[in-house]
Amino acid sequence: MNVWGGRANPGRSFAMENLDQLQDDLLSQVEEADLAALEELRVSALGKSGTITEMVKGIGQLSPEDRREAGQKLNTVKKGVAEAIDARKAVLEAAALDASLADDRVDLTLPVRPESQGRIHPISQTIDEMVAIFCEMGFTVAEGPHIESDFNNFTALNIPPEHPARQDHDTFYLPADENGERKVLRTHTSPVQIRTMITEKPPIRIVVPGRTFRADHDATHSPMFHQIEGLVIDEETHMGHLKGCLIEFCRAFFDVDDLPVRFRPSYFPFTEPSAEVDIGCSREGGGLTIGRSENSSAEDWLEILGCGMVNPHVLKNCGIDSTKYQGFAFGLGIERAAMLKYGIPDLRTFYDSDIRWLSHYGFDRLEVPNVAEGLVR
Ligand code: PHE
Repeated sequence: MNVWGGRANPGRSFAMENLDQLQDDLLSQVEEADLAALEELRVSALGKSGTITEMVKGIGQLSPEDRREAGQKLNTVKKGVAEAIDARKAVLEAAALDASLADDRVDLTLPVRPESQGRIHPISQTIDEMVAIFCEMGFTVAEGPHIESDFNNFTALNIPPEHPARQDHDTFYLPADENGERKVLRTHTSPVQIRTMITEKPPIRIVVPGRTFRADHDATHSPMFHQIEGLVIDEETHMGHLKGCLIEFCRAFFDVDDLPVRFRPSYFPFTEPSAEVDIGCSREGGGLTIGRSENSSAEDWLEILGCGMVNPHVLKNCGIDSTKYQGFAFGLGIERAAMLKYGIPDLRTFYDSDIRWLSHYGFDRLEVPNVAEGLVR
């Protein structure tokens, strides 16, 4: 017995009829099949020991005259059956998808489950707001590590060893390594100025939000806090750019168009000249309002950031030609800005992880800050 119909040397017409019949049978079975039956059919006809596969293997037993014709015919049958299976499968799958879409309708108008509503921490929100403002001005965001070399945190910023300015920063030192070098937890975000100036060519325009550390702990100081640093280096950058940039920033951040902004001379080793920036506020009846009120006798100022033109020594320490390039830098505390803007009275509450505090002062996940919509709730 062989797959060609039980005859060792079948007549031509018999073999061809057999094939026609086989094709008709298979095609009508395909038309009836569901997805599972279709797969069975594919295996039993076209699989490793399927009917058609066996016939292909058996072709050698035919007479030489029949072999050619049977071979061609068999190929046509094989192709036809395979195509029919694929086509039927596509139809069935599309129907199954339609059915499941109709069944599993998702109601997009249902409210979010209350238990899955997280809140954005005011520190994250404030960083996002500040970054949105500076990015609008053409700054990009840079970051650096919390553990810094003494060089990046101090020396390159024109604060040499034994310089009294080092004592202003209550530094956390790590144990000395085998070369006697003591790494520090960065005391400010300014070392990222150094990292950027060493690795990138001017023009530079970066803001650096991040964590900073000082061994200081009381009602208004935390050993870990956040700063945002800014650095601009270009060929014709001057104090006017610094002032314009920071006045614009303060007004956008506090959302007060005519917010008074004052630059007070100050000192930082890494900037020259240096200034501290104050914003106008009014204190009436124990309350604090950012901006000016009607009552001019309640006018006051609040210090908000430090800034200055980058000291040429710092440019030199980073291999930047200080006769060709100048720039400005600034740094401010995130917590303090958030406390002022959102009326948060106690610094320590930022780190208590109290869910009631967060649901009061936190922000909706979908309220992503952007300058076009304004940055105030
Ligand atoms: N790094 C300074 C600080 O922590 C702030 C600052 C940054 C001042 C850049 C001037 C320029 O107090």
